[in-house]
Order: sequence, then structure tokens, then C-alpha cells
Amino acid sequence: MTMITKIAENVYWIGVVDWGLRRFHGDELSTHRGSTYNAYVIKDEKNVLVDTVWTPFQEEFMEHLREVIDPSELDIVVANHSEVDHSGSLPEVMRHAPNAQLVVSKRGQESIPGHYHADWTLTPVGTGDKINIGSRDLMFVEAPMLHWPDSMFTYVTGDDILMPNDAFGQHYATEFRFNDEVDQQELYEEAFKYYVNILTPFSKQVSKKIEELVSLNLPVKMIAPSHGVIWRDNPMQIVEKYQQWAKQEPEQKAVIIYDTMWNGTRRMADAISEGCSAEGLPNKVLHASHTDRNDLLVDVFKAKTIVVGSPTFNNGVLPSIAPVCRDLSGLKFQNKFGAAFGSYGWNGKAINDIESHLQEAGFDIVTDPLSCKWQPSSDDLEKCREYGKKIAAETLKAK
Ligand code: FEO
Repeated sequence: MTMITKIAENVYWIGVVDWGLRRFHGDELSTHRGSTYNAYVIKDEKNVLVDTVWTPFQEEFMEHLREVIDPSELDIVVANHSEVDHSGSLPEVMRHAPNAQLVVSKRGQESIPGHYHADWTLTPVGTGDKINIGSRDLMFVEAPMLHWPDSMFTYVTGDDILMPNDAFGQHYATEFRFNDEVDQQELYEEAFKYYVNILTPFSKQVSKKIEELVSLNLPVKMIAPSHGVIWRDNPMQIVEKYQQWAKQEPEQKAVIIYDTMWNGTRRMADAISEGCSAEGLPNKVLHASHTDRNDLLVDVFKAKTIVVGSPTFNNGVLPSIAPVCRDLSGLKFQNKFGAAFGSYGWNGKAINDIESHLQEAGFDIVTDPLSCKWQPSSDDLEKCREYGKKIAAETLKAK
């Protein structure tokens, strides 16, 4: 069983490590390195629990809680966010601490009862509200759409610990609790993938919230999110990374995403890549059926130009391309170029569908779609190379 961890005087991590998690948000998000669900206890004149864990880990979590405090001695329970990976054990906690004050954000007044339909009295708080717990205050900062409307940060004065729930988290199971103890490449791979797949659509809100946080001039010794490790070594490094990521300034690179039935569209993809390389544009070719979609989206986030190809199948794109097109819109990528291509037999509708998806996603189309009937001939492949060169020239011209 994971050990509880004292993170400051009378402040404890009492979360759980989910080493085996491989899919999250239903089946939507891959979590190659598992995750953690972090919860914290602050012991003072008033005893506080900040967040809980996902229900399947409730028993282990309650054991951790009991190691630190008798749950009936909790005076305050803060639910920063209602998504069940953090609120799932609330009913069990409230059963043992029926008199605890349950603190939620203003939007949490709707979402917490919406999840649990329980007869709990809620204490709603807004940005700047404080609750004194003895030698410290809890201060609250609403953070709507980071990443749900009800999301909230809790700041612990004196210890200067920001508990921002999902923000600044990582799906990263590790034996360690702090950022300076883990492999930095792994940590940043997971922090970035988390941002790309969860927070990209809310980048404007991320920028504004960080500006607001900075303007509050709160000293921050530690950022203790609800997933992954706690940022104690230079904690503002992840805030700075979020500021940078939220700008969505892609690199001069292309990602060529395709699926194929009989290799015609694959050969086109490879020839487009050759054209990009010939013009000096770094590029990557990704087979949509054989590439984890959330990892693919990390490559999409980084690249200026996204080229998508599919043969026409049942009068549309191949099944692996459809969710990619959906995510290009849903994640609201900014500052992107797009282009479409594919081979076809008797109907080339998929290629026009892809271009429409790219336009709907707000991508600037850099060149007309490129299609090829049946298998590409050597002339067709030469056209693909020229098409790649044109894409590269446009991408390299862009700021
Ligand atoms: Fe929005 Fe980790 O849940």
C-alpha cells in the first residue's frame, strides 16, 4: 500500500496511486503511465480534507485518511471539482464526518448534488473568499473551465501551497510524490500530454487564470495538483509552461496523418513527406490506426501544418480518421494550417469531407485537396511530392 506523505508541517498527501490505469474518461484518454488521485489533509484548529479519490480506491483512501485523522474529526471538506476521480469518495467521507462543512465552488452547488443527490449542506465560496482554520487560512480561487465549470483552486496560507485540482496535473503513477524525485522527461511528457488532451480547448481561460493568479501576488512554495507529482522544486516552472502552451504557437513542422486500405493513401503520405523533407520542413507520418490517438494529438499540437488523408470508405473517411477529425475541432487548436488528400476508387468524397472538417476546425487550408484514383502511378507520386513541397513552402513562410 502506498505510504501517506507529509508534505508540510501538519499537511499530508493521502491519495492513492493507480499503477494499472490505461484508459481514462471512459475510453477517451490513454494513460500509459497510470495515474494518481491526490487528496490532502491539513490539521489545524479546524481539520480539513481537500478532495477525495475515485470510488474504486475508496477503501485504501479511507485507510490513509484514518492514519492521519479520525474522519469524524474533520471540520471542513473541500470539493474543488465534482468529477468522480476526485469526488467519488465524498459519500463515504461525509458518512463518517456528517458535521463537516462541505465547501464547494459556486458552480459546485449544482454539480455536487447533481452527482450524489445527497442531503448535504453546501458552503459555496468564490474567488478571494477565505476560511480561517487556526494558524492558516484557506483561500479559494474559482477556475471555471480549468477544466470544468465547477473547477476551483484552494490555496493554503502560511504553507503557501496551491491545490489547483486538475490544473498542472499529470497522469503519472510513480513511487515518488515530488517533481524533483522523478525522471524529468517522463514528467514533462505526461504534463504536456495532459495539457494537450484536456486543457487545449480552454487555453484562453488558462492564460487569463494565470494572469489573475499572478496578480494576486500569492507566494507559492508548492503546487499540489490532484493527479501526479507535487511541484515543490521551482513550482512556478509548470505555470510558466502552461503560459507558453496556452499561447498555442506551433513549430514549423508538418504532421501527415493517414489511414489506408490497400496502401494507395499510404504511398501518397510517404511521397508528401518526401516533398516536405526536400524543402527542409521537419515532418512526421502517422498511421492513424496504429498510433495512439492522444499521442497523435500531442504531435498535432506541436506542428503548424496538419495533413490528413483517407481513402473513401462507405462514402466517408475510414473509421480511424473520423475521431481524429472530431478532435481537431473539439480541442479547438489555434494557428494551424491544414490540407487533405487520399486515393479512391469510384467516389472521392472522403477527401472533401476531410477538407470540410479542417475548415470547420478553423485551420487555414494551404492548398487544394490532392486525390488519386486507384493506386498512385509514378506521376501521381510525383504530384504528391510537389504537393508536399508546396505545403512545406507555405509552412516555412508562416510565422
Ligand atoms: Fe476533472 Fe481529474 O478530473
